[in-house]
Amino acid sequence: MSQRCTLHLYVNGNRYTIDTEARTTLADALRNECRLTGTHLGCEHGVCGACTVLLDGQPVRSCLMFAAQAEGVSIRTVEGLAPDRDNLHPVQQAFWESHAVQCGFCTPGFLCLLVGLLEEAPDSGIDDIRDALSANLCRCTGYQSIVNAAIAAQRRMRELGSESDR
Ligand code: FES
Ligand code: FES
Repeated sequence: MSQRCTLHLYVNGNRYTIDTEARTTLADALRNECRLTGTHLGCEHGVCGACTVLLDGQPVRSCLMFAAQAEGVSIRTVEGLAPDRDNLHPVQQAFWESHAVQCGFCTPGFLCLLVGLLEEAPDSGIDDIRDALSANLCRCTGYQSIVNAAIAAQRRMRELGSESDR
């Protein structure tokens, strides 16, 4: 019989108490227990990055860790990126405006990846951005539109930062 456990997960500012198997991955817990299905599963073995979420601001592959390992950590998924219901996060806005989405399967992972990078290292150069983006796979866009979106998002986040400093 598989071992079960009760976990408390803090996701997008909300507390979820779940009863699950000890072997449940964070990705499965988010999708199946918390009903946050914006986190996608592609390869399920750490290659594609579709399952990327932010743990204490750091992008991680949620298919590669147990949900139990995320207890006590602030988890942010694609559902938690936008500041409110009426506004997108600058990275989401830039993806929309730069046509960086086709089928959209990879998009939640790319959004979390880029939010993590640009919030942690707002002065990242183009090589840093390209290097970070190389962690995730996209079958559709050819990547250039995603790079364009990243540059546009970085510019907008800088503008918003300087507006809030005034
Ligand atoms: Fe996690 Fe592919 S589903 S890296
Ligand atoms: Fe289809 Fe990236 S938009 S996999």
